[in-house]
Amino acid sequence: MSSPILTGPALRLGIAGLGTVGIGVVKIVQRHADMLAMRAGRPVQITAVCARDQNKDRGADLSGYAWETDAVTLAQRDDIDVFVEVMGGHEGAAKDATEAALRAGKDVVTANKALLAHHGQALAETAEANGQVIRFEAAVAGGIPCIKTLTEGLAGNQLRRVMGVMNGTCNYILTRMEDAGLPYDTVFEEANQLGYLESDPTLDVGGIDAGHKLALMASIAFGTKVAFENVQLEGIGRISIDDIRRAGDMGYKIKLLGVAQMTGRGLEQRMTPCLVPASSALGQLSGGTNMVVFEGDSVGQIVMRGAGAGEGPTASAIMGDVMDVARGLRLPTFGAPATQLVEAAPAVTAAPAPYYLRINLSDKPGALAKVAQTLGDAGISISRMRQYGHADTSAPVLIVTHKTTTDAIHYAVSQFPATGVVEGDPVALRIEEL
Ligand code: NAP
Ligand code: HSE
Repeated sequence: MSSPILTGPALRLGIAGLGTVGIGVVKIVQRHADMLAMRAGRPVQITAVCARDQNKDRGADLSGYAWETDAVTLAQRDDIDVFVEVMGGHEGAAKDATEAALRAGKDVVTANKALLAHHGQALAETAEANGQVIRFEAAVAGGIPCIKTLTEGLAGNQLRRVMGVMNGTCNYILTRMEDAGLPYDTVFEEANQLGYLESDPTLDVGGIDAGHKLALMASIAFGTKVAFENVQLEGIGRISIDDIRRAGDMGYKIKLLGVAQMTGRGLEQRMTPCLVPASSALGQLSGGTNMVVFEGDSVGQIVMRGAGAGEGPTASAIMGDVMDVARGLRLPTFGAPATQLVEAAPAVTAAPAPYYLRINLSDKPGALAKVAQTLGDAGISISRMRQYGHADTSAPVLIVTHKTTTDAIHYAVSQFPATGVVEGDPVALRIEEL
């Protein structure tokens, strides 16, 4: 590309963090300098960078950039306009440097969902009080431009529901267990070897990382303050290869699914393993891919699918935000002024749904009848049931219920020990209707 039309001064980036994402951003800025300048109407350039180890070979030429060892110092440099925070962590350097950047009059582009899930409201208020913007497309669902879609494209809709599979590592583990017939522990170790897991793996498999992402989207969708602490969280650690196979036999896939919706009782936010129809778009999602689903009153349902992580997709999202800043787009962090966002009352999911139950039943006369009676006493009606071959003295029984409430399921499960025929912990998973 030649002779871009440049109408403005260069937009100068300071990049804090030169790992997977940071180096991805460096490569795009270097590879597409002319294209970016043409599209933004001004050059987009990197002035200074920062990481812990200056001697590490990072596979990119950084010789043209000033080097800082301290992210706060980088954030305050006079020769940067945008502070790109790609270090990670919700306290320490990431938080200190982001606050310093905003106070120093810099815009912020970040991939850090943990930081915003914990401090998003305060940071947004600081940014908006100072006339700065915080952009965080890369923080949610990697390369999928879901934050832009929600904030801009769907701004004329009252959002009904936001859903998605937003942790690629969990989706990789669940689909790999199914495809290879391997147990959770083996696939977890495989994911570790492949470098998929966060440095604290509970962020992934405990549902926390995906919960952060859901809380950020819920804030934009429903005009509420980010309330990660109210997300009902459950990870994938107790999902067995048996559950995956049995759910498959019944026509379902197991996904770590996030759902947020505003109800008359308050804001429901949950990130839990659920069953979804195997034939649905979510059911067919495999590997590390993410899927985000929006439902608006005018638009109906929108489904977005793409890479949820990795150097290229995440850097792509960062650059989308950088280009918006370069073009002069200045929107409030969560789509409405931070001071107008309301505190939503947390609500537990009340809408009835079918449930999948896996129960290990003792091989005794009348055992099945006792379980059916317990479910009946809880007001739960059985839709389908299967019993599998006996292992020693017990046999797995699968039950798909008619629609029932979470409370009824919890009550029934709490009564199972008293039957004297249920061995171990039963598994109860909601079947999400899409
Ligand atoms: P990473 O590969 O671990 O890189 C982190 C970088 O930050 C490293 O260059 C590290 O320096 C630097 N760093 C860490 N602490 C620092 C400190 N106190 N001062 C200065 N530099 C520091 O992480 P990443 O995968 O690129 O992720 C970065 C952010 O993007 C995180 O918030 C993550 O959640 C988010 N994100 C990542 C992905 C992905 O696919 N990787 C996707 C979406 C969002 P050294 O290299 O010298 O150690
Ligand atoms: N650990 C995250 C995932 C990285 O597996 O989806 C992207 O946020």
